[in-house]
Amino acid sequence: MDIDRRAFIASLGGAAAVALMTHEARADALEHYMEEALDAPAQTPGQSGEYPTVAEIEARAANLDRPYRRGTGRLFRSDRDGKLSTLRPMPAKPTLLDFFENRFAPANHVLQSANRALKTGMEEEVILACLLHDVVQNLNTPDHGWWGGQLIEPYVPEKTAFAVRYHQALRFFPDEEFGYEYPESYFRTFGIDYEPEPYLVRTYENVRKHKWYEYPRLVTVNDLYAFDRSQEVSIDPFVDIIGRHFKQPEEGLGWDDSPSSHMWRTLMMPERPL
Ligand SMILES: [Fe+2]
Ligand SMILES: [Fe+2]
Repeated sequence: MDIDRRAFIASLGGAAAVALMTHEARADALEHYMEEALDAPAQTPGQSGEYPTVAEIEARAANLDRPYRRGTGRLFRSDRDGKLSTLRPMPAKPTLLDFFENRFAPANHVLQSANRALKTGMEEEVILACLLHDVVQNLNTPDHGWWGGQLIEPYVPEKTAFAVRYHQALRFFPDEEFGYEYPESYFRTFGIDYEPEPYLVRTYENVRKHKWYEYPRLVTVNDLYAFDRSQEVSIDPFVDIIGRHFKQPEEGLGWDDSPSSHMWRTLMMPERPL
């Protein structure tokens, strides 16, 4: 979930109070703050009501007194305790599982989404899409559907890449037939009066007519935003599905000179200056 850093620091009594806290106390406080925010999602309203308006969100973005922009990937910004996380070493020939373990962890959101797809008996291509649908957010978040589709395209069934690429656009458009509603969290994230930009509308309309429409739609159906801490899902149930459908390059991801190798290398080496 997104944390409003200022609101969090203010809730602890300001920056001076935070500076006096131990590292551990800060982490605990943040955990507590996040749980409260999840229980009462309307706690960070805009000034005009329960949810912010587009103009209020834009005003926040205009505040340049921030360490990073909103679209920065998770690997490139500080962790929940305000510190960068330790970069775990990667093996010489990294597999998808190595990325899950050392770069994407804890990956709860994608694991929980894939688990829902598995439990509801969906096709393996869809389960794999759910497992991979947001992993590119470790790199960056704007247009993550397109980035994410591109990242995995050389290695997965065509349907899986299609599903990941278009899930982002489909999230903005309800589909009763699939029981998919516009996410309430988007009122907070994008603003209560947000209208998807023309490129998203266009993409939705084209995908809606496509014979594979159901694949990205099923990713949105499994896209769980209720971050359930009590439910820890491991990667184990998906290892065989990955084995059957993910073409692991012999040289290791990042070293096989595919059209997306550079993206895997960036995920592997986020400290590289150039
Ligand atoms: Fe997504
Ligand atoms: Fe998601």
